[in-house]
Amino acid sequence: MQHHILILNGPNLNLLGTRQPEVYGPTTLQDIENLCAAKADDLGVTMTFAQSNHEGALIDMLHAARGVQHGVILNAGAYTHTSVALMDAISSIMLPVIELHLSNIHAREAFRQHSYIAPVAIGQICGFGAAGYPLAMEALVTYLGTGD
Ligand code: DQA
Repeated sequence: MQHHILILNGPNLNLLGTRQPEVYGPTTLQDIENLCAAKADDLGVTMTFAQSNHEGALIDMLHAARGVQHGVILNAGAYTHTSVALMDAISSIMLPVIELHLSNIHAREAFRQHSYIAPVAIGQICGFGAAGYPLAMEALVTYLGTGD
């Protein structure tokens, strides 16, 4: 069975490359999408890659993933630290979700060290910059197994 993966990016991640490159690196979101597309080919999965600056739009995309996708990789950006609504959406869709961050949120400001996503995610990858995306894809595919 071929797995379908949703890679969802939250607010301000559209500005990657120019946004605080000392924290998030020089890679653009388009570069990351290209990296993920190549990794999807390697892993034999299909992926949908999306970004929104709007909490409700992210929730709508999570709901729409039900019955369509097999798992989700979510970089919720700052909503990680604020959004009970995103946490509830993840609890409601019955899909495995991996929490992802470019930066090591545990080594940053105290308010970034709390995540509403972590308790409802199967795991978290953070601190590896853009390389975290293919790592998360590998982890998700391993979690999903062959499906046979
Ligand atoms: C981030 C970390 C968040 O704290 C921050 O608000 C972001 C990006 C990351 O990928 O490191 O927007 O999710």
